[in-house]
Amino acid sequence: MNKTGSDERKGHEIIMCMGSACFTRGNNRSVEIVKDYLEKNELTAETTFRGCLCSNRCKAAPVIIIDGQPFEKVVPQAVNEVLDHVFKEGGNENESA
Ligand code: FES
Repeated sequence: MNKTGSDERKGHEIIMCMGSACFTRGNNRSVEIVKDYLEKNELTAETTFRGCLCSNRCKAAPVIIIDGQPFEKVVPQAVNEVLDHVFKEGGNENESA
């Protein structure tokens, strides 16, 4: 299963559902938004970002799974908010700029 060793997990894992329901309802655009977010926040090195086929939550599409937690109905406009919730509020919600 892990013969190559290339499946090593990084600090965070983002799995974007690329099944047809999620893809057409927004994940086709959200892929770039997530990539951009990770680059801007210098999170690429510590984050595994991959796609999956249908994750059996089509009624709640588009779905993004972050660190094992499914986020449902994440339209492209909401992607940054969800990522902020996970990466910036995780453990230090009251931090302000
Ligand atoms: S296509 Fe994403 S949950 Fe089915």
